Amino acid sequence: MTWAVRLEPIGVTANLTDGQPLIEALVNNGLNVLQECGRRGMCATCHVYIQAGMAQVSPKNRREERTLALVATAQSDSRLACQTKVQGNGVVVQVPQGMYVDAMTDIEALIGRRTEQDLVHPLTGEVLVETGKLITRSIVNQLQATRTQVSEYLNQTREANL
Ligand code: FES
Repeated sequence: MTWAVRLEPIGVTANLTDGQPLIEALVNNGLNVLQECGRRGMCATCHVYIQAGMAQVSPKNRREERTLALVATAQSDSRLACQTKVQGNGVVVQVPQGMYVDAMTDIEALIGRRTEQDLVHPLTGEVLVETGKLITRSIVNQLQATRTQVSEYLNQTREANL
């Protein structure tokens, strides 16, 4: 079976087959999900909100619940796209704005330009760079520090799961 999933706010409808994780719809539609944990439900860099159709997605597993409990911006409709499988039509996914930061090399290429949307911390939801702000070398350094923090958090999570 193939199911249609609506991605907002980009306004795209994607098709997923049974058993295909929701993250496939994101990456196949140009969203640069970091996938720091390799789709293992441990990093929250694929955090999304299910706006509609919660009954049409697979239930949360324990690891996903534990990871989402650490995310400051998580709500009752939060899911990790790598752990969520669509099982019917009518699912609408809200992609958090500014979460999908490209690789640091891509960020460095933006020095001297202005951000088109807020860039937010993947775990805390803190706005790291506001919309329209000029990207400077010091902002890039700040983003690199955040990336290190996220990696350290991931390493701790991995150790806790061993
Ligand atoms: S890719 Fe890490 S939690 Fe989904």
